[in-house]
Amino acid sequence: MIVTTKDLFRHAYGKYAIGAYNINNLEQTVGLFRGNLGKKAKNEDPIDSSQSAPFIIQISRGARSYSDKRMLEALIRAADEVFPEAIFAVHLDHGTEEACYDCIDSGFYSSVMIDASHEEFAKNIEVTKKVVEKAHAKNIVVEAELGQLGGVEEDVVGSVKLTDPAQAAEFIEKTNVDSLAVAIGTSHGAFKFTGKQGLHFDVLEKIQKAIPKNFPLVMHGSSSVPHEWVERINNAGGKLKDASGVDEKQYLPAAKLGVTKINIDTDGRLVWCAIHREQFRDDPANFDLRPPGKIFMQAYAEYIIHKNSVLGSTGQLEGVREMLKKGGGKTGGCCCCGH
Ligand code: G3H
Ligand code: 13P
Ligand code: ZN
Repeated sequence: MIVTTKDLFRHAYGKYAIGAYNINNLEQTVGLFRGNLGKKAKNEDPIDSSQSAPFIIQISRGARSYSDKRMLEALIRAADEVFPEAIFAVHLDHGTEEACYDCIDSGFYSSVMIDASHEEFAKNIEVTKKVVEKAHAKNIVVEAELGQLGGVEEDVVGSVKLTDPAQAAEFIEKTNVDSLAVAIGTSHGAFKFTGKQGLHFDVLEKIQKAIPKNFPLVMHGSSSVPHEWVERINNAGGKLKDASGVDEKQYLPAAKLGVTKINIDTDGRLVWCAIHREQFRDDPANFDLRPPGKIFMQAYAEYIIHKNSVLGSTGQLEGVREMLKKGGGKTGGCCCCGH
């Protein structure tokens, strides 16, 4: 069942974070749905409610144009039929104004991100406000971004612009946006930190104090870039020297400070890369795409189960279902109090 991110945030706020996972193809889609229902090997496996979780599917502009946006949308529609127990939001990741309008008009997305974080503050407000008005008219919710993620040098915040708490409060008030992505030390990709840096909890705390109570924050660039998967890639011929990510132990403390959506893309790519490299290394005579595909779908489902456990969303699916039954589904009212 497709719901808005607002519905999911209402249940999670302050307790746990919802995993927002990017997809590009069939195998990722199947692994993602299986993992979030606690199924590993087969679609037909019984749902394991102790491991099942609500989740967000993210589609980037790159993913939309990889083949054709309609192909991805059709995959998600099919997955919704194959896995009727799943509860998830469909979200445009890092949208331009044009991409947001396309997704709003499509009638398929329940949530869009307008990313005008590279613009001046006033322009970011202006563009975000326009998108919010169009989206809200169709009961679609909007995420925006304030501040700039980027590469981080040891103890030096390079091109990064951490989110200013006072600006965050003003931005939310002037745009009427539903959630806000903040820059608190993370960056996209597999090379986030050169030393022992981590999240700037001091900044996050100040942001949470400055903005309206229970307003959901989003953390981009949150892959943990697990050493185990990087090592497997490198042992199978890859060259990912010095890859590093966010410490998974920092997810829940961030969730307690209002981070309700945690974006993961790179980790899924690492799992994909390791499995395929190992397959080509270990079975050089094989030229069939299905054997590595099958192994990947299972490995990805298992990875999602693990990820949800560190985000705290594991076992929360039935609670979300109950909440939706009581409070109504898609478009679901105030994220903060359920009204
Ligand atoms: O934040 C960006 C996501 O990782 C999407 O990456 O644009 O290469 O699909 P992509
Ligand atoms: P990672 O590169 O850390 O997976 O971040 C993904 C992301 O922020 C998608 O919007
Ligand atoms: Zn991002």
